[in-house]
Amino acid sequence: MSENKYTITAALPYANGPLHLGHIAGVYLPADIFVRFLRMNKEEVLFVCGSDEHGAAITLRAKKEGVSPQEIVDKYHAINQQAFDDFDISFDIYSRTSNKTHHETASEYFKKLNEKGSFIEKTTEQYYDTEYNQFLADRYITGTCPNCGSENAYGDQCENCGSALSPTDLKNPVSTLSGKTPELRETSHWFLPMEKHEDWLKEWIKEGRLNGERHHNPKDWRNQVVGQCMSWIDGGLKPRAMTRDLDWGVPVPVAGADGKVLYVWLDAPIGYISATKEWAEKNGKDWKDYWTGDRKLVHFIGKDNIVFHAIIFPILLKEHGDFVLPYNVPAYEFLNLEGGKFSTSRNWAVWLHEFLAENPDKVDELKYVLTAIAPESKDSEFTWKEFQSRINNELADILGNFVNRAVVLTHKYFEGKVPERGAVTAVDQDVLEQLEQAPEKIADLIKRYRLREAQAEAMNLARLGNRYLADTEPWKLAKTDMERVKTIMNIALQITANLSIVFAPFLPKKSGKIAEFLNIDAHSWEFAGKPDLLKTDHQLNKASILISKVEDKYVDEQIEQLKASAAMNQSTFPPQKETIAFDDFMKMDIRVGEIIAAEKVPKADKLLKLTVNTGLDKRTVVSGIAEFFNPDEIIGKKVSVLLNLAPRKIRGVESQGMILMAENEEGKLSFVSPDTDFDTGAEVR
Ligand code: 2FM
Ligand code: ZN
Repeated sequence: MSENKYTITAALPYANGPLHLGHIAGVYLPADIFVRFLRMNKEEVLFVCGSDEHGAAITLRAKKEGVSPQEIVDKYHAINQQAFDDFDISFDIYSRTSNKTHHETASEYFKKLNEKGSFIEKTTEQYYDTEYNQFLADRYITGTCPNCGSENAYGDQCENCGSALSPTDLKNPVSTLSGKTPELRETSHWFLPMEKHEDWLKEWIKEGRLNGERHHNPKDWRNQVVGQCMSWIDGGLKPRAMTRDLDWGVPVPVAGADGKVLYVWLDAPIGYISATKEWAEKNGKDWKDYWTGDRKLVHFIGKDNIVFHAIIFPILLKEHGDFVLPYNVPAYEFLNLEGGKFSTSRNWAVWLHEFLAENPDKVDELKYVLTAIAPESKDSEFTWKEFQSRINNELADILGNFVNRAVVLTHKYFEGKVPERGAVTAVDQDVLEQLEQAPEKIADLIKRYRLREAQAEAMNLARLGNRYLADTEPWKLAKTDMERVKTIMNIALQITANLSIVFAPFLPKKSGKIAEFLNIDAHSWEFAGKPDLLKTDHQLNKASILISKVEDKYVDEQIEQLKASAAMNQSTFPPQKETIAFDDFMKMDIRVGEIIAAEKVPKADKLLKLTVNTGLDKRTVVSGIAEFFNPDEIIGKKVSVLLNLAPRKIRGVESQGMILMAENEEGKLSFVSPDTDFDTGAEVR
């Protein structure tokens, strides 16, 4: 019987791109370690995750890649699911929010709250892009954060300071679609009156109390989480829209709400419930057991998700009424990379799936490094040099070396059989005591979500073993005192067996390998700290290399590759077109022409109707340059004109040629003009 029952969630990653090491170090790996530890303690645990497939993160990506949102989520869901699998993250289920179960669950959830009167329907003014004919929710709008002044805040959130925003909070709002300042238009939405919940939220977060009863131990809540939540609550909560004018997401299940979907931050956390349902159905369980009663619900997240998991989702859970509230919300800070922020757009990232494709045998090595540097209490940094030094100097030189010595010496002196432990000296006694205490220290740290220190403590046990062998020098004693060697090797092997237990949550593969060397089954945590895990005469297997060192060359290559891919990414100009024959080029008749008249084309924001003197004639050319040039500015301008382009009607005006323009990365246009006042009609070749 297990004492505690846990439902553990890891933030559903957006299926809009691959996962990088920052995501892993700050959410998925710590959650996995915690879960493995609980399972080893025979606690009842359900570990759920899945892809977050709605919201502007997805639709914007689809637009950028020129494909449908469904194609985007199908692609990245598959990549990320595979990467988690290859990285040995032990989810019970990895679901997705575009599936039927989720749509039904989210829909019903909304309906229930709507019927209870949890929302207020109201009409407000929202930003609207007149060029794209669309309201601009969330990531469709950027601007200056009113709290921290960052210029890249989104309509729903500032990633710099983590605050939750509404589009109308932004200063200098700009549409991410057209790049223009949007206008305000009326639209109606369902709002969650968060301000009504301030009192109980305060008590719940600060005191760990709910309805007078102690709910969680607030000391286990990270200061940063309590601090952020309290500062929002103290700043005054406001009604927040729970629906959006978008065509991708869970449709608002109310008559007359066409063209509206649930806010992604309403539907995504409900995804944890949908994933539970899906798992329960497949495993013959009742999903409600995982969300009610004395379940401990723990959300592993990044710090930019705090408000959604510690304030908004709890309000939604409380309003629903049937479910438990989060027991803890361990949030992680951010991981940086080689002196910069991880950035998808700048391609400054180490992608998990790429790392694993190149290094399928370095899963645990990467886990070790990421836990050692995890951004638990402040931002931290991944560098390839540290990757190398942690693996070489700690994993290989301490853990690998100790395990290898213990097993190899036992083969050398005792044919691989565990020797008997004779009389123990004060030194032995001291080591045995430390061995006994280690697992408790480690367990205590894991329970308090301090995995970095917990793993360091596990490594200290290997360090203890190494030091013990170095101090007692059994290889020297072997010439004179074999009885003493037996005792030393017995103790060294007991430490080794314990290492396979205490490292199991962190390094499951290596821990399995150590158990294999020792010819034992993987142990559960209850055996940790015992000095007699291996019986006298137990036969060991041969050891092989536990950890291979990382070469300097590999590190140099990784740094080079990172820089190269970031540099390649600098230019977003299209690649060179296919080669053409000289004759094809010569078919074009390009001349220096002079613009002699210009006017706007009615009802077309982008078009100007130009009259151009080509040296041969005066003709009309329609050009898409109205956003950048006023008609009167360009009269008299000498430009390059393609004359022999087949005439086309554009907005009712026949265009007899084309003005050549250069376009930069931001889409700005410039004429391609002769650099002196050149003759009108001169050929351009
Ligand atoms: O920040 C993110 O990547 C979100 N997709 C996390 C969602 S967590 C949960 F609510 F689903
Ligand atoms: Zn900010």
